[in-house]
Amino acid sequence: MAMQSLVFLLVAINYFTVGSTAVPLPGNGVLQPSLNYQRYRQHEYKKYLPYYQWWYYWIRDNNNDRHYAIAYGTTLCKHTDTKVCMYDGAAVGFSVVDNKRNFRMQKYEFYDRNAFSVEGIFNYKIHANTNRTIHEILPIDDNTFRISGNMSKDTIDNVWFCDGCPKDLEIQWDLTLSRIYGWYAQDIFEEPDRVLEGVIMWDTYSHTAEVEGFVKIKGEEFTITKDAGFRAYGDSNWGEIMPSSPPKQKPNAKYAWGWYYVNIPSNNQSQEFSIIAGTGLTYADALLKTMDARFSDIRLDATTHIELRSVTVWNITLDSCNDGKLHRFDVERSNWVNVTDSFGNATIPLRQLVTMESDNYLITMDFKSLETNYNRLLFAFMDYVFSDFEGLGVSTDVVIIEKVTGKVLRNETVKSGGVEYGYRFDINVPPVPSKYL
Ligand SMILES: *[C@@H]1O[C@H](CO)[C@@H](O)[C@H](O)[C@H]1NC(C)=O
Ligand SMILES: *[C@@H]1O[C@H](CO)[C@@H](O)[C@H](O)[C@H]1NC(C)=O
Ligand SMILES: *[C@@H]1O[C@H](CO)[C@@H](O)[C@H](O)[C@H]1NC(C)=O
Ligand SMILES: *[C@@H]1O[C@H](CO)[C@@H](O)[C@H](O)[C@H]1NC(C)=O
Ligand SMILES: *[C@@H]1O[C@H](CO)[C@@H](O)[C@H](O)[C@H]1NC(C)=O
Ligand SMILES: *[C@@H]1O[C@H](CO)[C@@H](O)[C@H](O)[C@H]1NC(C)=O
Ligand SMILES: *[C@@H]1O[C@H](CO)[C@@H](O)[C@H](O)[C@H]1NC(C)=O
Repeated sequence: MAMQSLVFLLVAINYFTVGSTAVPLPGNGVLQPSLNYQRYRQHEYKKYLPYYQWWYYWIRDNNNDRHYAIAYGTTLCKHTDTKVCMYDGAAVGFSVVDNKRNFRMQKYEFYDRNAFSVEGIFNYKIHANTNRTIHEILPIDDNTFRISGNMSKDTIDNVWFCDGCPKDLEIQWDLTLSRIYGWYAQDIFEEPDRVLEGVIMWDTYSHTAEVEGFVKIKGEEFTITKDAGFRAYGDSNWGEIMPSSPPKQKPNAKYAWGWYYVNIPSNNQSQEFSIIAGTGLTYADALLKTMDARFSDIRLDATTHIELRSVTVWNITLDSCNDGKLHRFDVERSNWVNVTDSFGNATIPLRQLVTMESDNYLITMDFKSLETNYNRLLFAFMDYVFSDFEGLGVSTDVVIIEKVTGKVLRNETVKSGGVEYGYRFDINVPPVPSKYL
């Protein structure tokens, strides 16, 4: 749908209807999206505006309640119309949440834009001026991705910070993901997004995958094997604006994004269970004002898939569901706590309850996190740094009810949930390294 027709459609609907309305979105999301959906899109967006994109991975060791999160990204603003360009280049972040050992850390490196390239569809590389590859995402086929990285003594000049670790901590990883389920909800929004405001887009192309390889921290090697003891998640985000409150309004906690993930691995892949959900409320522009978006893919097993999509602009909700109607898609946040870390203060909800309902299913995920489950992942853009509080290995009650029969299909408490609260908190971060590659 072209941008003009979308806007005219919205104006027409708004004119002829009173109060809130739901309008069906055509079709459904893209199941098992091919590599092209994961592509680097900078050249497709406006040359005169800043642009960001990142690819994020979470490797989960179920037996040890140990989690690794790896983000490869780029944030570009030089040579654009913006006057506020502090963060231009590429960043790679590596974090650990070990709930058993009660240990958390994260290390970020920041590189000049010339040290970064994307070849082919999304073969992201950070290379030194010798062309030695330091960090890489290597897509092999639609379902297979190899991710590697090497934070060594040779890259110490590129360390932005190490939070909970010494700056010279050496970390290496080399992991191959084999996708089980993936979903891309926003296919039909790509064109309007490009033409309009470049609101953050989200592609959950591998929400559960088998994974094998290793992670090495200060010489200690952790072997990751391709069995149900380990799983990996992978997604990508891009856009021209990050979620934010309306201008001149006091910051408000509701203009946040949320990410909700529960996966129950199975040795028999046709019985793998996985739910990914994401929500976000942001100010877009003077025309669209605020946008509220909610997306979820629910795989009860390899053959039973429920998906929900909803986007609200003005008072109009555009939605779709592959199981009749979208009856409910809500997030309730509670148990707010003030946290103070090396970046400052923030107030986050430790409990988030997601309720989703279609014609035949009622799904709830009740995330009960502890402060120790979180790292504050940082996403720099233009002249600010967005905080993404990411809880990994969170105790979560999952209940799936088949409405017609009243049958409880799942009622489990998993300790491997993933939950986020992302918001543009005031933050103090060290400056990016000035003497970098
Ligand atoms: C690095 O690789 C690029 C692209 O393949 C090439 O143009 C450049 O000459 C190489 N630089 C060095 C120092 O080898
Ligand atoms: C990481 O980089 C160091 C220093 O350049 C090198 O000696 C080492 O072999 C690399 N390790 C891996 C796993 O790539
Ligand atoms: C895997 O699960 C499917 C669906 O429940 C079942 O039909 C199949 O027999 C199972 N395969 C094995 C090897 O157990
Ligand atoms: C949305 O609807 C509410 C009440 O129905 C109304 O007060 C508000 O002005 C409407 N907002 C927009 C942007 O149309
Ligand atoms: C968090 O801090 C704010 C501002 O200092 C305060 O108003 C609020 O009561 C605190 N909340 C909690 C849960 O401690
Ligand atoms: C964080 O909050 C504490 C207690 O409310 C306050 O003393 C401190 O100044 C705050 N720090 C920052 C960086 O805002
Ligand atoms: C799920 O299990 C819990 C604990 O066993 C129980 O209290 C609850 O009633 C169950 N919920 C449903 C919908 O069966």
